[in-house]
Amino acid sequence: MCGIVGYVGKQQVTPLLLEGLSKLEYRGYDSAGVAVMTEHGIEVKKSKGRLSILSDMLDGGDALKGNMGIGHTRWATHGEPSDTNSHPHLSQSGKFAVVHNGIIENYMKLRTYLTQKGFTFLSETDTEVIAHLVEYYYEGDIVDTVIKVMNKVEGSYALGILCADQPDSFVAVRKESPLIVGLGEGENFIASDIPAILSHTRKVYFLENNEIVMLTADQVKVFNPDKEEVTKSVYTVDWDIHAAEKGGYEHFMFKEIMEQPRAIADTVKPRIKDGTIVLDDISLSDEYLKNIQKIYIVACGSAYHVGVVGKYVIEEMTRIPVEVSVASEFRYANPIVNERTLVVVISQSGETADTIAAMREAKRLGGRTFAIVNAVGSAIAREADDVLYTWAGPEIAVATTKAYSTQLNAIYMLSLYVAQRLSLIEPVKLAAYIKALEELPEKIEKLLENKGEIQYIASKYYNSKSVFFLGRSLDYAVALEGSLKLKEISYIHSEAYAAGELKHGTIALIEEGTVVVALCTVKSLFDKMLSNIKEVKARGAVVIAIAEEGHTEIEHEADHVIYVPKSNPLVMPSEVVVPLQLFSYYVSSLKGLDIDKPRNLAKSVTVE
Ligand code: AGP
Repeated sequence: MCGIVGYVGKQQVTPLLLEGLSKLEYRGYDSAGVAVMTEHGIEVKKSKGRLSILSDMLDGGDALKGNMGIGHTRWATHGEPSDTNSHPHLSQSGKFAVVHNGIIENYMKLRTYLTQKGFTFLSETDTEVIAHLVEYYYEGDIVDTVIKVMNKVEGSYALGILCADQPDSFVAVRKESPLIVGLGEGENFIASDIPAILSHTRKVYFLENNEIVMLTADQVKVFNPDKEEVTKSVYTVDWDIHAAEKGGYEHFMFKEIMEQPRAIADTVKPRIKDGTIVLDDISLSDEYLKNIQKIYIVACGSAYHVGVVGKYVIEEMTRIPVEVSVASEFRYANPIVNERTLVVVISQSGETADTIAAMREAKRLGGRTFAIVNAVGSAIAREADDVLYTWAGPEIAVATTKAYSTQLNAIYMLSLYVAQRLSLIEPVKLAAYIKALEELPEKIEKLLENKGEIQYIASKYYNSKSVFFLGRSLDYAVALEGSLKLKEISYIHSEAYAAGELKHGTIALIEEGTVVVALCTVKSLFDKMLSNIKEVKARGAVVIAIAEEGHTEIEHEADHVIYVPKSNPLVMPSEVVVPLQLFSYYVSSLKGLDIDKPRNLAKSVTVE
């Protein structure tokens, strides 16, 4: 996820671009850049690193005199953070400058095509294909050109485009990635999000998918892909400017919970092609895959919990033995690793010290390392033999949500990919799994609509002293994550327990009023969970059950039931975790705690 801004009007543009980008750094901050229409034509300044580095390059905004320009702050997806990979990207001749938020899914095909046409690529990004494609199609009308580009490009994008032939206007277009138009007096803006322009205007257009906008200082025209002008209604933003930093949400964590459908779609969609899982940048040979003896999954915290789900899923799909270990234990356990061991390391930040050390130990022992990482170009991403990026965008809240969810989907895809490559899965079953992956974002959207019910339940139990999370099989794996979410942001003691294990001691802790969250979505074990609910109810527990729609018999046993949409068992963990995230969020909110920055914690634990 990146942030883009654009301006045309009577003011000096560079300071405005820097100001706008500073309000969008939450969307990405590994590099930044601007393109300004100066008296010399389009001039670009861009740099790896935080926005402050770019600001220094621009003398705080005094450099690059002009009244029109575009800017970008990046969360790297294709190509690690670097000066060259930073946006804006110029076309071959320098006539066009482009900034982009989103993912061009067919960029490799377009890159090959344009290379054959004589274009030279400087960066590793998907975005650069847009800059050259605009030049390739341009015959004098920039809107016509954008329409041609749209017909060629697959994926998600919000684009700002400068054309040297047009010093008084620029264009923008969106598909899936957000883009708004700010309407000023003698000046107009584009931005990925409202905070970037709110100090200049509260009047905006929300662009719909496939709408193209042309802006001059005094005019804004919106077109559809048939080049028919579209009439837009003006929306007046009534937000408090500070709340808008989080896109109108009170906390980054809530915003990131709500972003999960888009984050999952961005991570999964580009990797489903012709009904199969395609992991372009993975170099696991058939020979290697056939000879894998064992898979280790190594991670910390929530990433470790993804690994616990991964064990069930990978073993179910491939029958390859999987062992899951917390990184801080793995590295000192003298693990049994050799060249036929695939060690999967999972990390949102890619900078967690324990996970880095575990990965290095695995390599030292001859294992092959496969990283699932969110931060492009991070230490783990750079050192692993293979990297499967989650494209969740920057996750600001310390308590992970969307990164966890995209990691789950990465594990699902890895499991299916290996099963495909080893011909272990029948086509009809593969098709069912892929359909489940494609439908998941919509099901999570439906779950998120139900947040009020979860807020109500949280309001009844936010003063609890202890909460147990019970589950079996995949539900147990998710119970681990639900328990951690509650602990880390509400400071309430909590334990996740394999439901069948409770009676072997821990049930002694259940007493009148103890809150138990029972996850009951694994169909084959539903009756066993009903029995476990009865056991704890008999000792005075209050039970909040999570069940798949239709299993209404649970209402006779539990005090509250939260239903999740019916789905393929493979992706059910992705549904079940959402109410648990929301429950923890609302409990912490009701306790008035610092949800985004919980005490004692850090977003990336870069020390042992
Ligand atoms: C989860 O909400 C916590 N922030 C923490 O457990 C986190 O998952 C863990 O520190 C691992 O971080 P990583 O994914 O960046 O390696």
